[in-house]
Amino acid sequence: MSNTNQFDKKSQAWSALFSEPMSDLVQRYTASVDFDRRLWRADIDGSLAHAEMLAAQGILGAADHAAIERGMALIAGEIESGAFEWKLELEDVHLNIEARLTQLVGDAGKRLHTGRSRNDQVATDVRLWLRAEIDAIGGLLAGLQRALVDVAETHAEVILPGFTHLQVAQPVSFGHHLLAYVEMFARDAERLVDLRKRVNRLPLGAAALAGTSYPLDRERVARALGFEAVCQNSLDAVSDRDFAIEFSAAATLCMVHVSRLSEELILWMSQSFGFIDLADRFCTGSSIMPQKKNPDVPELARGKTGRVVGHLVALVTLMKAQPLAYNKDNQEDKEPLFDTVDTVKDTLRIFAELVAGITVKPDAMERAALKGHATATDLADYLVKKGLPFRDAHEAVAHAVKHAIAQGVELSALPLAALQAFHPAIGDDVYAVLTLRGSLDARQVLGGTAPTQVRAQIARHRTRLA
Ligand code: ARG
Repeated sequence: MSNTNQFDKKSQAWSALFSEPMSDLVQRYTASVDFDRRLWRADIDGSLAHAEMLAAQGILGAADHAAIERGMALIAGEIESGAFEWKLELEDVHLNIEARLTQLVGDAGKRLHTGRSRNDQVATDVRLWLRAEIDAIGGLLAGLQRALVDVAETHAEVILPGFTHLQVAQPVSFGHHLLAYVEMFARDAERLVDLRKRVNRLPLGAAALAGTSYPLDRERVARALGFEAVCQNSLDAVSDRDFAIEFSAAATLCMVHVSRLSEELILWMSQSFGFIDLADRFCTGSSIMPQKKNPDVPELARGKTGRVVGHLVALVTLMKAQPLAYNKDNQEDKEPLFDTVDTVKDTLRIFAELVAGITVKPDAMERAALKGHATATDLADYLVKKGLPFRDAHEAVAHAVKHAIAQGVELSALPLAALQAFHPAIGDDVYAVLTLRGSLDARQVLGGTAPTQVRAQIARHRTRLA
């Protein structure tokens, strides 16, 4: 009798309390093992730390502790090799592993769950798993930033028309433009570091919801598992999923950044812009139009952003109106979280390669910057330096631009005499400021687009990312 347990009877009924088994449909509906099995390593690590503490506290005998360690090592090997038999009727990863442990080591396996519930167990597992994924994503974010910094450095001097409202505004360095994305991804990494602190707290010891009557040493378990704190309220410990939502929100912002970059890459690659080309390996052709090369990867990334946003909404909605403490609703946290992690990791990995493989077309960018009177602000600034109030300078230049448009030429192509008609303070030194290069070089302010500033930022990023 000692090697049988409740799990052997699970195909009939959950426990002696139950007089009938679940239908197959209900079993399939309530089971999570098909997806939560990916938590297996965290589940084993958590169990081992719990068992070690139980033994240290004299709650579990040394022989039982040794048997649990031995059994868990076997189980880890089975799972890694694919030999482990996952059973739907055992519902989730936790019950599957515990049942196998009992099969392998007998009563010691049945003692593992002393002072523990699946409620604090699953919360611990998800936190352990997510903590590792956060670290992995941090690494991938650094990789993408490095790729962007590399391309920015090569193209610090390349002139791109800067847009506001998608109308030509002022010339900017292409490198400067890419560094704007580096700032975004740096903030994403910063957010992860911050929210990791709240992920990295130990729920174990909360048991089902109220704590436990065994003299557990929660601090010891926390230390063993690398948690930096212990959840301080047992009800909150088992029901809190804020950490998952925070992560999901940070992941959403990260994908929003990827999506914005994607949108620009797609526009830039369009024949109407012709600013860049993406390497063939990130594109596909058309089944009907032989000339087509489509930027599928950035398009998909833009599309997948919607799905990550959806997961955030799912998680927030999952928690809304849940009474304390644990509710089975929480089993629904996993698929959105898992898919978010998978999507973000794949996307960041691909984008680091995609960015590194971009072909930049400086001539097309510069030609485009020469349209749209991109240095009009520079002419206004020039007049201010000659003593005009900025508003008057702005108005004088507006007249000059209107004239240039009527003449069908760029502002910078107007002859000196024509320019002087709009203000006598204009001298022949004006052409230095009307050139794209002059405009760029003038923006020496911290964070400005002058190539020397861009290089300073690149140096800062390189140190930060080293
Ligand atoms: N599979 C469950 C989950 O993911 C584990 C916790 C089950 N707890 C319970 N009281 N039924 O949330």
